Formats: sequence, C-alpha cells, structure tokens
Amino acid sequence: MKIAIAGKGGTGKTTIVGSMARELARRGHKVTALDVDPNPTLANTIGVPLDSVEAAKTLPFDAFERVMLDTGGAVLKLNLPVEQVLEAVGLPGPDGINLVVAGRVEHAARGCNCATHAAVRAVLEAITDETPGVVLVDMEAGIEHFSRANGTLRYVDALLILVEPFYKSLVTARTVVSLSAELGIQRRYVVANKVRNENDLAAIKEFCRESGLELIAIVPFEPAFPEAETAETAPIDAAPDAPGVLAARGLAQRVLEVLEDKEPAAV
Ligand SMILES: Nc1ncnc2c1ncn2[C@@H]1O[C@H](COP(=O)(O)OP(=O)(O)OP(=O)(O)O)[C@@H](O)[C@H]1O
Ligand SMILES: [Mg+2]
Repeated sequence: MKIAIAGKGGTGKTTIVGSMARELARRGHKVTALDVDPNPTLANTIGVPLDSVEAAKTLPFDAFERVMLDTGGAVLKLNLPVEQVLEAVGLPGPDGINLVVAGRVEHAARGCNCATHAAVRAVLEAITDETPGVVLVDMEAGIEHFSRANGTLRYVDALLILVEPFYKSLVTARTVVSLSAELGIQRRYVVANKVRNENDLAAIKEFCRESGLELIAIVPFEPAFPEAETAETAPIDAAPDAPGVLAARGLAQRVLEVLEDKEPAAV
C-alpha cells in the first residue's frame, strides 16, 4: 500500500504523515516513511533526532538502472529487491518504523533534484500489492513533482491532497487535483488542516464540491503540533490525545479502511 501526501508549502504534510506513520506502526503495520523533501524533516514528527538524519544514507543510485522507453526518453528501474533497498538505507524509528530519506540537497549550485525523483518513482513502481506493509510518502511542497518526466507519484495507490483554509493553499490544491488526474492517480482525497472555525470548513467543503473529491479528514488548528516540533518530540508522544493529533491518527486508519473498501465513517 503506497499513500502519498501533497499540497502547498507549509500546509502540514510532514506533520500529518509523521503522525499517520506512528499511528499505523503502533497498530502493528510494517511502516516505511519515505521523506522525499530535499530538506528532510519527517524524522522530527516521527520522533527520530534530526542529527541522525544528517548522516543517514539516501537511495543508492547503483541500485537503479536506466531503461530506454519505446515512447522515447528513459526511466530508472530498481535492479535489487525493493524491500532490501529500503531496509539497507532506512533509519530505525519508534514503533518499528523504517524512515527512508530519499535524497538531500547539501550544496549550492549542484544541479536539480531530478535523479532523486526518478529513483523515488522507480521505488514506488517496484512496490506491488504483494509487498508487505504501508509506505507513506511525504512530498516536497508544490506541484513540480507532478510535471516531472514520468511523474514521481504515478504509482501511488492513494494521494492525500492537504489543504489549509487559505486562498493560496486552495489555488495550489486545484492544480494538484488536475495534475494528479492527468497522471492517472485514481484515488485522491482531500484532508483539511489547521481548521479553526465553520467558515474555514465551509471554504474547504466548497473546494471538495467543485473538485468532486471526498473530504476524508478534518484536522483542527492544533498548537500541540508546533509545540512538539520545537521540543523535538513526536506529537503522538507529546500530546497523543490533543484533538489535532487524534484527527491525524484517525486519518491513518480511515485511509486504510477506504483503500480496503470498507465503508468509511462520515466526516
Ligand atoms: N493542525 C495544525 N495546527 C497548527 N499548526 C500546524 C498544524 N499542522 C501543522 N502545523 C504546523 O505548521 C508548520 C508547517 O508544517 P509542516 O512542516 O508539516 O508542513 P509541510 O507541508 O510539510 O511544509 P513543507 O511544504 O515545507 O514541507 C509546522 O510548524 C507545523 O507544526
Ligand atoms: Mg514537509
């Protein structure tokens, strides 16, 4: 099962994915948390010290080969079993999570991040329905990964489109909706984050109506998230019962239910 999250910068992708990862791992799932942000911070929400991420391995390019396409262009394909690669580079996290940092930008003026995206695309392609466990993908901000050649997220089973109740967040989300449809991602759900009141919720519901997508979770504005972040603690450890944290935890379960075609509870 491969679930990715996308949305405008700062909407809370990393916060939500990290909390979902912990919740699923606590419930006994084998969880791989894949950080695709070139400035990786998913560790912070999972409860892994950020200094250990600085030394972490990233996806090894010698595990991939370049394959020419009949249609022109080329893609990377994994030449090793995907589970072996993810285990080899992952950092062990709490509750048995395997935290994988896809790549990092360490120096200025060294070129684009294209190779990391091609590798992530290949990893997601190599994970099949037979691969045990859940892979949660924390994307970098914005929309560029949708426009990349071959599409980084083409092979995910579900895309969570994270929106804040702000105009610019909704503008980005509209573009994410149309680009992800072009990429052929069938199962797309909206997650509302940082909701403070009924007006906020109404704006997001209107967005769902116009895009025809289901609102799968509502996460309220939750001070426990930034507080946990500053204390370098996972929200699920610092404030497991805070309303926002509970909502993110509930989302983890809901997504699996929806993907397994169980009737979801109404939001
Ligand atoms: N529900 C919430 N209530 C209050 N603050 C929140 C909430 N969700 C996330 N935040 C805060 O918003 C900030 C941005 O969150 P986060 O880093 O998860 O966003 P992001 O979408 O991953 O950002 P980027 O696009 O840079 O990767 C953080 O300081 C986080 O603590
Ligand atoms: Mg992030």
